[in-house]
Amino acid sequence: MKIAFDANPAATPETLAIAVKRNAQADLSRLEGRTQALVRGAAERARFDAEAGTIAEIFVPQGDGVGRVLLLGVGAGDEADMAKAGGALSGQYLTAGIEDIVVDVKPAEATATAVARFAATAAQRAWRFDRYRTTMPERQKPTLKTITIAGAPESTDSAWRDANAVTQGLDLTRSLVAEPGNVIYPESFVERCRHLEELGVELTVLNETEMGELGMGALLGVSQGSAREARILAMRWNGRGTGDPELALVGKGVTFDTGGISLKPGPGMEDMKWDMGGAGAVAGAMKALALREAKANVVGVVGLVENMPDGLAQRPGDVVTSMSGQTIEVINTDAEGRLVLCDVLTWVQKTYRPGTIVDLATLTGAMIISLGHEHGGMFANDDALADELLAASRASGDALWRFPLSPAYDKLIDSPIADMKNVGPRGAGSITAAQFLKRYIDEGVRWAHLDIAGMVWADKPGNHYEKGATGFGVRLLDRLVRDRFES
Ligand code: BES
Ligand code: MN
Ligand code: ZN
Repeated sequence: MKIAFDANPAATPETLAIAVKRNAQADLSRLEGRTQALVRGAAERARFDAEAGTIAEIFVPQGDGVGRVLLLGVGAGDEADMAKAGGALSGQYLTAGIEDIVVDVKPAEATATAVARFAATAAQRAWRFDRYRTTMPERQKPTLKTITIAGAPESTDSAWRDANAVTQGLDLTRSLVAEPGNVIYPESFVERCRHLEELGVELTVLNETEMGELGMGALLGVSQGSAREARILAMRWNGRGTGDPELALVGKGVTFDTGGISLKPGPGMEDMKWDMGGAGAVAGAMKALALREAKANVVGVVGLVENMPDGLAQRPGDVVTSMSGQTIEVINTDAEGRLVLCDVLTWVQKTYRPGTIVDLATLTGAMIISLGHEHGGMFANDDALADELLAASRASGDALWRFPLSPAYDKLIDSPIADMKNVGPRGAGSITAAQFLKRYIDEGVRWAHLDIAGMVWADKPGNHYEKGATGFGVRLLDRLVRDRFES
C-alpha cells in the first residue's frame, strides 16, 4: 500500500474520507448539498462521536453510481490520535475491495508531524506476510493500493521522510521476525541486512573462529548443538561524523530456540522462530536511523545463534567461560539468551566504548506472566536513562514498564562451582535474568535491558500491525535517538 500527498485530488473520488475532530462539526464542504444532509443524518444515526479511530461509513449517490464517504474520527488531532486514525483506516479498508481512498486531513488541524504519523501508521497497518500462502482466497487479499492525503500542512515533507523511515525499518524487522527458522538463521539474517550498506551503514561480521579467539565461550556454548554457524553482526551508523558511538543497541538473535538439551515441550515450540525479535528490532531501528540520516552515532549489535539439541550440544551442568572472564554454570540450556547477550555486551563495550547501552531480548517467559502482551519490561541501572526510555515509550506507542534491580536478586544466581549460574529460582525469573546481564556491564556505563518476550508477536491485530510480527522496539528506539541523542 502506497501513501501519496496531493493538495488537489479529484473533486469526487469514489471513496472520500474526511477527518473529524472530537466535538467538531464535520466539514462536508467537499460534498454536494443533498449529500451533506445524508451524511450528517447517517453519522448521527450511527452515533459517530469522532473518537480517534472511529469511522462512520456512508454510501452516497455519485453520478449514476454509488460513492462512499467515511467520516474518520481523529479525536484531539494530536500525534497519538492521528496515528490511531491512520491505523484504523487502513486496517478496516485493506481488504474491503477498494483500491483508492482520498483523505482530507485538513479538518484535523494537525501538525505536520501528526499528519506524517497518520500516514506512516496507515502504511504500517497494511503490512502483511503472505509470501507462503499460495492458495489464499481472493476475498482475503489486500485490495487497497493508495491512500492519498489532501489538506496536509505545507511543511509535511521532512516529517513524512522521517516517519516513512520508521515504516521501512519496521518492515525489515517484521519480515525477519515472521520468517521461519529454516529461512532465517544466523548467516541468512546477516544477508538480509546487507542492503543497509547501501544506506551508509558499516557492517562488521564475526564468525565462530573469530568469536573463539575472543573467548566467547558463553555464546559459543549455545551454538555448539547447531549445524548452523553463529554470527555477530555489528551495524554502525555515524550520522554525527567520526568518533565512538554514544549509543549501542544490542539484540538477542536466537533464530530458533528449541531449549537445547533442556528441550522445550512440543506444543507452541514453533513460536520460538521469533526468539530473534530483539535482534530484528535493532536491525530495523538501524535502518530507520540511516534512512532518515539521524544526526547521531549509533551502533547496533546482534548475537545470532540457533539453540539446538544434538550430540555436541552443551549439557546442563557444563561450565563455560565468557569473554569477560567470568565463568557460568549452565543449569538450564533453555536460559540461552543471557548466555548469548553477555558475550555480545562485553564485546560491544570493549570495541565501541559506548556511554549508553540498550539491549532488547525475548528473554523470559516470566515476563509474559508479569505483563502479558501490553508492556515490555524495562530494567535500568540509571534513573535518567529509564526516564528517557519511558518518555520515548509514551511518545512512540511502544509501551514499557519499569522493573527493579537489586543485590537481593543478584544473590539468587550465585553458583557453588562457578561465578554464577544461568538460572535463579522460580520466582522473579525476569529480574534474575536482568541481574545476570548486569554482571557484564562496566562501571559508568548507562544500561537498560528490555525484555520484550510478550511484545514481538501478536495473536490479534493492533493499531499499527496485522496479527503476527509487530516490529516492537523500532518506533521506540528511533524516538529515543531522536529525542535524546540528536540534539
Ligand atoms: N526465548 C525464551 C523466552 C520466551 C519464552 C520468550 C516464551 C517468549 C515466549 C528463553 O530463551 C527461555 O527459554 N527462557 C526460559 C528461562 C528459564 C529456563 C529460566 C523461560 O522463560 O522459560
Ligand atoms: Mn530458551
Ligand atoms: Zn530464547
